[in-house]
Amino acid sequence: MTQRVRKAIIPAGGLGTRFLPATKAQPKEMLPLIDKPAIQYIVEEAVRSGIDSIVIVSGRHKRAIEDHFDKSAELEDELEERGNAEMLAVVREISQLADIYYVRQKEPLGLGHAVLCARRFIGDEPFAVLLGDDILMSEPPCLKQMIEVYEERQSSVIAVMEVPWDQTHKYGIVDIGGSLEVVATVKDLVEKPAPGEAPSNSAVVGRYVLEPAIFELLERAVPGKAGEIQLTDSLRQLNERNALTALRFEGRRYDVGDKLGFVQATIDLALEREDLGEDIKRYLLEKLPLLR
Ligand code: UTP
Repeated sequence: MTQRVRKAIIPAGGLGTRFLPATKAQPKEMLPLIDKPAIQYIVEEAVRSGIDSIVIVSGRHKRAIEDHFDKSAELEDELEERGNAEMLAVVREISQLADIYYVRQKEPLGLGHAVLCARRFIGDEPFAVLLGDDILMSEPPCLKQMIEVYEERQSSVIAVMEVPWDQTHKYGIVDIGGSLEVVATVKDLVEKPAPGEAPSNSAVVGRYVLEPAIFELLERAVPGKAGEIQLTDSLRQLNERNALTALRFEGRRYDVGDKLGFVQATIDLALEREDLGEDIKRYLLEKLPLLR
């Protein structure tokens, strides 16, 4: 019987060292892209994909995330008093987005460990994982397409996209034994292969739909590099039991945990905004000749 994918995990317990000192006292997932924290884009993608409950795995700076998705009675009263109906609606909507729960990852022992921390919340059903620093722009949302593929094929699904061949060392790479079709069966996965050793240039992006069997594998996983439990190792084992499906993601992807990706996302999003687009465009056009 097909089980619906209703729950999602958003791991947000990493240290965000690439963004220090901004991440010294706040999680990188709370850094804003224009005026919305990155993690809110992720929660919105999950909701638009049909997810109704979300667990956020957070670390030391859990408060800021929790407060963001909570009702803020004081702020709402203040905005009401000032007659700022537009902002009031924006603020209210955030606390009504989804049922959000929190688990604390006591130590940042890797992405695999973060997923394992949410085991009790998920139980024995398939679930989604959305990485807090991968922003994907597509219509329909990437996760929605992945859930449809999961329900059709009854095997775990990972989203992949082609990256330049000289960048494979930055990603998990899938071997699909040929060119990348929209949907393909995964032969193997390799974590960050050096250019020249990569079996393909199809890189894993931060969305997964997984069978609960992954938890047993994560439980038994041996910490690898820097004492971290990697998700990729357990995905490889899962793949041996029931081949994973790779779904080609078509859309824009930003790694907002990386400075360049963060700035690119900010510029693109600003250009698309009605209230900002024209001004930013004018500014960039003025600037451009000076950069040549
Ligand atoms: P990253 O490796 O991009 O996050 O993990 P990081 O370790 O915070 O970043 P840098 O390299 O130090 O700058 C991908 C996702 O997995 C989460 C992160 O929060 C991020 O969303 N993660 C990573 C955890 O939840 N726990 C961990 O132990 C590690």
